[in-house]
Amino acid sequence: MNDFSLSLFDLVRCLSRAMDLIDSHLVQHHERVAVIAGHLAKELGFSLEERRNLLLAGLLHDSGALSLEERLGALSFDSDSEFHRHAEIGFRLLKDFNVEGFEPLDEVARIIRYHHLPWREKNPEVSFSSQVLLLADRLSVLVGPQRTVLGEAESILGKVEELSGELFAPEALAALRRLSHKEFFWLEASQPRIRFEKSAWRIRNLEGLKEMGRLFAKVIDFRSRFTATHTSGVAVSAEMLGRFCGMSEKDCGLLWVAGCFHDLGKLAVPNEILEKPKALNEAEFNVVRAHTFHTYSVLEAIPSLHLVNTWASFHHERLDGKGYPFHLGAGDLSLGSRVMAVADVFTALSEDRPYRTGMDPERMRGILEQMALGGALDSNVVATLGENHRELDQMRASTQAKALEEYRAFGVSTGNA
Ligand SMILES: [Fe+2]
Ligand SMILES: [Fe+2]
Ligand SMILES: [Fe+2]
Repeated sequence: MNDFSLSLFDLVRCLSRAMDLIDSHLVQHHERVAVIAGHLAKELGFSLEERRNLLLAGLLHDSGALSLEERLGALSFDSDSEFHRHAEIGFRLLKDFNVEGFEPLDEVARIIRYHHLPWREKNPEVSFSSQVLLLADRLSVLVGPQRTVLGEAESILGKVEELSGELFAPEALAALRRLSHKEFFWLEASQPRIRFEKSAWRIRNLEGLKEMGRLFAKVIDFRSRFTATHTSGVAVSAEMLGRFCGMSEKDCGLLWVAGCFHDLGKLAVPNEILEKPKALNEAEFNVVRAHTFHTYSVLEAIPSLHLVNTWASFHHERLDGKGYPFHLGAGDLSLGSRVMAVADVFTALSEDRPYRTGMDPERMRGILEQMALGGALDSNVVATLGENHRELDQMRASTQAKALEEYRAFGVSTGNA
């Protein structure tokens, strides 16, 4: 299948934007770091490939900071082992991905692994790109989204200079000094906008898009043992259910991708809420309820993914208009969106959670049938699920078991585990 062309960076930017929605202090942090790192890399004469890897590392560098506390901690200048933890987790999340047409993301992962290691520690494993990323990250914190950045530039430069030879590599700082007389640099750092060479770095087939889907699923799910396998379960259930409903093979592949994206907006929900052992209060519930809006608004930046976006983001919409956040009705919800809504409820009820085992099939089917009868879910899709339940459930369970194994091998405890 070769009938689409998507920018790898646009996709990765969706992931980083969703991550940065978690708190107002973090808005555009990843993008800002990528822009600053890009300017430094150009000034330092990095090759195109080195720049590409550094930009990707900038957009993804804090993906291993799983909780809100860690995300905010990563902004602080007090260096301690916490830094190494999120950098190490980020490394493990991203290594081994091999998106069609690109080298494996191993180098990107390695850059991220050492993005908080002070220059003075001179670890031979650390590439210069990690040092540039470290400088870009600290600059991003100092610059922030302020509009008065030109007035602050000198004092920011002064603060950074103090740490030359300690935290920062002198060569990277020399590049910053050369850039620092350009207003353009500071203004872009403050209001980041990444410009990519649009012709390069594109995903051109379904396999490449699926690999991106796998990456999204891992970053979304592995934040917490409570969600560790949910995305994998929804993706495979939606794909199979779409097939049983007569959708084309191409659409079933795209449904799988939409399944990987469906809870993208959950990256904006702090782990402290995802893992809360007690019932959520109203404010916390409102944060959770916003997640499909975030999925939608982040993916909206890629017009060619519009259909996939509607399949992904409308999974809490209901045919009777009582879903959220758009309150769409039957006339607005395509078969793909209806399949995704059923796949999400089916997976949520059937999957084992850390605090309970999955519901037995009879009860689960009873609930789905009630939801169809009540006008919330599509009755044909629910009936098709009923007819093929055994096969679907086996695939769901084995896919989630595999994801759980991967999560355990990943070996990250998020506090409540
Ligand atoms: Fe970091
Ligand atoms: Fe950061
Ligand atoms: Fe959801």
